[in-house]
Parts: sequence; C-alpha cells; structure tokens
Amino acid sequence: MRMTILFVLWRCCSTAQNDLVYIVDGSWSVGPEDFEIAKQWLVNITSNFDISPQYTQVGVVQYSDTPRLEFSLEKHQGAAELIQAISSIDYMGGNTQTGRAIKFAVDHVFGSSQRGSTVKNRITVVVTDGKSQDDVVDASEAARAQGITVFAVGVGSEITTSELVTIANKPSSTYVLYAQDYTNINRIREAMQQRLCEESVCPTRIPVPSRDEKGFELLLGMNIPVKAKSIPGSLSTEAAYALSADVDITEHTRNIFPEGLPPSYVFVATMRLKSGFKLTFDLWRVLSKNKEVQAAVTLSGQNKTITFTTTSVTDREQRVQFHTGFQVWDLYNSMGGWHQLKIVVRPRQVSAFLDDRLIQEHQLQPVEPIFINGHTQVAKKSRTDVTVSVDLQKLRLYCDPEHSERETACEIYSVCLLSCIHVFCVSSFRAESSLIEPALV
Ligand SMILES: *[C@@H]1O[C@H](CO)[C@@H](O)[C@H](O)[C@H]1NC(C)=O
Ligand SMILES: *[C@@H]1O[C@H](CO)[C@@H](O)[C@H](O)[C@H]1NC(C)=O
Repeated sequence: MRMTILFVLWRCCSTAQNDLVYIVDGSWSVGPEDFEIAKQWLVNITSNFDISPQYTQVGVVQYSDTPRLEFSLEKHQGAAELIQAISSIDYMGGNTQTGRAIKFAVDHVFGSSQRGSTVKNRITVVVTDGKSQDDVVDASEAARAQGITVFAVGVGSEITTSELVTIANKPSSTYVLYAQDYTNINRIREAMQQRLCEESVCPTRIPVPSRDEKGFELLLGMNIPVKAKSIPGSLSTEAAYALSADVDITEHTRNIFPEGLPPSYVFVATMRLKSGFKLTFDLWRVLSKNKEVQAAVTLSGQNKTITFTTTSVTDREQRVQFHTGFQVWDLYNSMGGWHQLKIVVRPRQVSAFLDDRLIQEHQLQPVEPIFINGHTQVAKKSRTDVTVSVDLQKLRLYCDPEHSERETACEIYSVCLLSCIHVFCVSSFRAESSLIEPALV
C-alpha cells in the first residue's frame, strides 16, 4: 500500500473546517441598496476561507416574515461560484422574524449538511437591522445546544442591543458586532474576519473567572505538569513547575496548533529565571520539519534582550529585538523573582510587555503561515535540544489581541502592587469578574 502524506501549508482560516451559515435580514427597513452592501460584506468576510467540500462550506438564508433558503451548505464548492451566488441573491422585503430564521437555519441548513456534526466548526452569522417581531431566545438557545456558534451583527439605530446579546454566544464582546449603518459596515469587516478566523483556529477554551477565553493552554498542552516538578508559584493559589535539564518539553506541532497559528495572538509566560541568568534560550519555539524556526520567543541573559521570531513572505524568517529600559534588565537581574512576559502579535506589528509595562513596539513584514509537521518546544537552548532550567507558572497563547488589556500581571503580588496603584488593578479585577459590555465598533 502506498501512503501519501500531504504537507499542506496551513494558513489561518483558509484550511479550517467550517460549516458557515449566513442569516441575512431582507426586511423592508433594509432597502434594496443597503441589501446590496450587505451581500458585498458577506462576500468580503468569506474571502479568508478556502471554499471546498474539505474545508469551509457556506450556506445563506435570507429572511423577513419567513426565511428563504438561498442555497444550502453543499451547493457551491468553490469560491468563485459562491461569490457569484451571494451576489445574485434577490432582496425579499417584508417584516422581521429573526427567531424563525434562526430556527430554520438550524433545522434545515445545518440539519441537512452532509458533514453533520462531524464538521469541526459550525458557525452562523446573523445580520439584522431591526428588532425582531418574534422571540429569538428559544431559537438561539437551540442553536447553541447543538454546538453552533452564533455571531450577531446589528446594523443601524433600530437594533436592540439586548436582543443581539440574546442571539449571540457569550461573551458579547466577542460575538456581538455593531455598525452604525450599512455604509459603515465595511468598518467591522476586519473585526468580523478576525473573529471568524479565531473561531475556526482557536476552538479550545481557557477557563478564567466568569468567561472562557479562546486560546491555547500551552502549559497543559505541552504536558508540563506531567513532566516537570511541581513547585510553589508566585501566590499560594498558583501552581508552578520547575524545568530542569533532564526534562524534555517537545510535542508535535499538529497536536498543539492543528490549524496553525492565528493571525493575531498574545503569548503570555509567567516565569522565574535564576538570578544572574546568562544563557540564551528559546522560551517557546515552533520548528518546521527541517528544524527552521517558524515562531519563537528567545531570551538572552547575556545580551539582556528578548527576541521574537516569526515567518516572512520575503525572507526565511524575521526577528525583532526588545531591549530598552531597565525592565528587560529586571527580568535577568532580579534576585530570582517572578515575571510576566507578554508578546502581543498582530498581522503587521508586535509589542512586548514585562510585568504590564510596555517595553517596545515593532513593525512586522507580512508573515507566512507555518508548517505544522514539525515540533513545538519549550525552554530550549538556542539551536540545540538542551533544556534550560527555568520555573514556569503560566504559558498561554490567547487568540484575541484585545486580551492583552485584560490579562494583567496581578498574579505577581509585588508587580500588582507597584504597577496598579490603584486604578489599573482595581479596574482589571472588575473587568475579570463582570460581564464585558458588547463592543460597539
Ligand atoms: C468589500 O471589499 C472591497 C474591496 O476590499 C471594498 O472596496 C468594499 O468597500 C467592501 N465592502 C464591504 C461592504 O465590506
Ligand atoms: C548577542 O550579542 C552578540 C554580539 O552583539 C550577537 O552576536 C548575538 O547574536 C546576540 N544574541 C542574541 C540572542 O541576540
């Protein structure tokens, strides 16, 4: 038997497997011109995906008094065909029965997908401009009960925020989007693309008080609690782990990031280095099969720098170095204290924070998707497989770059005390413990 192994280049989103259903308001209040804009917007937010039976399939329901199936999930098997189909949808006109439309989409569009519930992600985006004339609660709950993620996009001044919040998944700050009117809907296109992308690439949830964050809990994913010695953390409530030279933290990248890395993310590590630390090591790195570095956070005790490495469309790799200020010195020189390092990566920009203080911000060249056929490693001496001794309390990759404003270093008592007298910490604790208001974009 011949085995064929495909090494696909995993671009964010494009190769995610989604059943995606757009439920679009075609009531009288929208009007034919704005309906054309809504269709264009749907085309635009779909452009990141690879439309094929293997990856993303898109179905569309238009609704007013009654829902109308424009086309089912399997109908269009390529991007050009799909764009053509969305562009030629005819505007209906009528009243606004959103609940009925959601129920129809769940029962008849998701319900008749051949991939059924075996598909990795089932996502619906409800675009509406007015208050529904029927109840949306039952239909939305039924959708979620079947594992369908619901985004609600409200357009114009007639929408009711509470209704959008009811329709959408929690947290509302992620799943509810709002545009002033249809001419402004283009302004939430990137936000929508980013969130759809996160939804497809970051299905895992990191539990934090009062909400779940999308992202990767690398400490667990990399099996650190199993392999390394448990030690007391920065607070009595925090567990931490001591990595030593005899511990090898290496996993197949396809098990850690099965769909590659998201276009934006926040890398957070809470760690402790030995005082007077002089080595240069990769705190985290993603290697290709040929051991080329595709992503890495490198700490150099000798140079007193932090380096971020990522891919580049024009070069083999790109590296940016963070070195200014006493903060970086602090990381290496303090007498064995805990520090939180945070690298906020966006498509064209990266910034580093140490203990909640910005070190530097750098521009990035466009990056290329990573190969997932190599290994992901933690705490390795640069260019070797030798593990460097370091204590780790947290190692996470959050998918939402806005997360950076919510994640503080308050787990480190002295940092919290210093950096947040008093406003910052108090407000960030509040943000942690209360439901975030829906983001009005
Ligand atoms: C769709 O994308 C095109 C090309 O980027 C842009 O010109 C247009 O304004 C977008 N329209 C909407 C409604 O998003
Ligand atoms: C540290 O500095 C030396 C000399 O400037 C340089 O050659 C080396 O590449 C630096 N290492 C890192 C990890 O930045």
